Amino acid sequence: MDIKAKADAGQMSANKPPQLSLVVPTYNEAGNVVVLVEKLDAVLVDIDWEITFVDDNSPDGTADVVKELGQSKPNVHCIKRIGRRGLSSACIEGMASSTAPIVAVMDGDLQHDETVLPKMFEMVSAGKDLVLASRFYGGQTAEEGLSKFREMGSNVANWIANLITGAKISDPMTGFFMLKRERFEQVVPKLSSEGFKILLDIIATARNMGKPLDIGEVGFKFRARHDGESKMSPLVAAQFLGLALSKIMGGLLPVSFILFAAVGAVGVVVHLATLTFAAERMAFNFTNAQLLATLVAMISNFHLNNILTYANQRLRGFKYWQGMLSFIAVCAFPAIANVSISTFIYEQNSLFYLAAIAGIIISMVFNYAMTRIFTWRVK
Ligand code: GDD
Ligand code: MN
Repeated sequence: MDIKAKADAGQMSANKPPQLSLVVPTYNEAGNVVVLVEKLDAVLVDIDWEITFVDDNSPDGTADVVKELGQSKPNVHCIKRIGRRGLSSACIEGMASSTAPIVAVMDGDLQHDETVLPKMFEMVSAGKDLVLASRFYGGQTAEEGLSKFREMGSNVANWIANLITGAKISDPMTGFFMLKRERFEQVVPKLSSEGFKILLDIIATARNMGKPLDIGEVGFKFRARHDGESKMSPLVAAQFLGLALSKIMGGLLPVSFILFAAVGAVGVVVHLATLTFAAERMAFNFTNAQLLATLVAMISNFHLNNILTYANQRLRGFKYWQGMLSFIAVCAFPAIANVSISTFIYEQNSLFYLAAIAGIIISMVFNYAMTRIFTWRVK
């Protein structure tokens, strides 16, 4: 009997093709996985569904828990990524590797109320391209799950987000949404995969391609985290601003370049502060003060880029020091070139600032391109 005949005869009823693929990114959610699947079992009774956990090799063994569950439940899958981190890229890989005509993303910490899933499924089936579960729709407040400070930050971020997406939606930053697979496949080649805000990216990218999404919303109550801790941080907020800027410019500059440039700007301040301190307090002569300031700025730039720009490739332990050396080695080239060129121009005494600015931009592009390859080894 061929596969189709077997299926028709009901021998494969346990393997009915999924109508809905759920994707859950996880990092240290071992204590939440089983409870989540139980809750989904209870609520998704009329839908054939599968779930893919995309785990970045969590130290707490989340992937092992998922795999054990998959041994008794054939609709539970696990993608275990080694040596990589990142929420957006996890969501993208989960969606790309699943099969149902409708896909959804939700968190693995039980903050997202699974009982709204059937309603979302109904709306997408009825024609919406994308339905998001909003923490603020229909009089919802996020009191339980968000601190006052985070709620304020969240409002500002929403305002910027609406500007980028051009859509008036109550919660563009939610991590809980469902969409038609065909619309996902359409935008996926142009998604950023860097940073935290996959939904925002999907909506903005569709719009930039001239094919805006027809979006629906349902409200839900953002629950307090069940187990473990949040990965939200000021760094994530800075990455979000980088993504926003990149999208506002229609993706002209990659997020990592924008963050690299922002770190460079901080580096200029560090440089000038060190220079002043060394010259005035430590009585260094100008050349020595410059040397010290350059070194301090390089070290600070390396550290900031390592935790912010390349958070997903962050170097630790021995590799951290190795990375710092390679970063300094790379940046020394344009630094030396800059000093000699600016000295030359200074002597000519014309177009001083213009030349200085050109020098800074050229060395930044050089440093970005080279350290990406030699320090963080981005493939
Ligand atoms: N694979 C993978 N890799 N998963 C990750 C990573 C990562 O680097 N970082 C976080 N996750 C998983 C977590 O395990 C969780 O299932 C989900 O992504 C959300 O992470 P949280 O750390 O719980 O984020 P949050 O609760 O602070 O933020 C949530 O709410 C925000 C709105 O305030 C997320 O849904 C955000 O996307 C959302 O914007
Ligand atoms: Mn959470």
